[in-house]
Amino acid sequence: MVNDRAVTVDVPDQMPLLWVLRDEIGLTGTKYGCGRSLCGACTVTVDGQPVRSCATPVSAVDGKAVVTIEGIGDDKVGLAVQEAWQRLDVVQCGYCQPGQIVSAVALLRANPRPSDADIDVAMNGCICRCGTYMRIRAAIHEAARALAA
Ligand code: FES
Ligand code: FES
Repeated sequence: MVNDRAVTVDVPDQMPLLWVLRDEIGLTGTKYGCGRSLCGACTVTVDGQPVRSCATPVSAVDGKAVVTIEGIGDDKVGLAVQEAWQRLDVVQCGYCQPGQIVSAVALLRANPRPSDADIDVAMNGCICRCGTYMRIRAAIHEAARALAA
């Protein structure tokens, strides 16, 4: 399942999930950064957990629920994060932001009121070359407040 849609692909078992999403299914919102599980640009959720799709063979997600940036706003947590991102104007160049948003949504689903330290741990490894870290942290707090209201 990808963004609540059943998807069948005919590809080698070891093909990275990122390749399948971008090249086979046409979901190009998920970005390629390092290809080595080091930058977080390719983050999607699999059964609710954030994973690096560049380092995840497609065979590992057979029968599981994958959510990409294209589908992340389909529930109230994802929508709240997207709205907070817009209100605080988080994005600079934007390249890292799909992975940042997907990671933030996974964090808030697991921990609805994260501390700064919780955010730093959860978002560690999502590299932003534009240095938007402070706005990302503020937007996660903003989304948490909106969800609690
Ligand atoms: S592209 Fe996957 S972690 Fe960098
Ligand atoms: S907004 Fe440019 S890399 Fe993060």
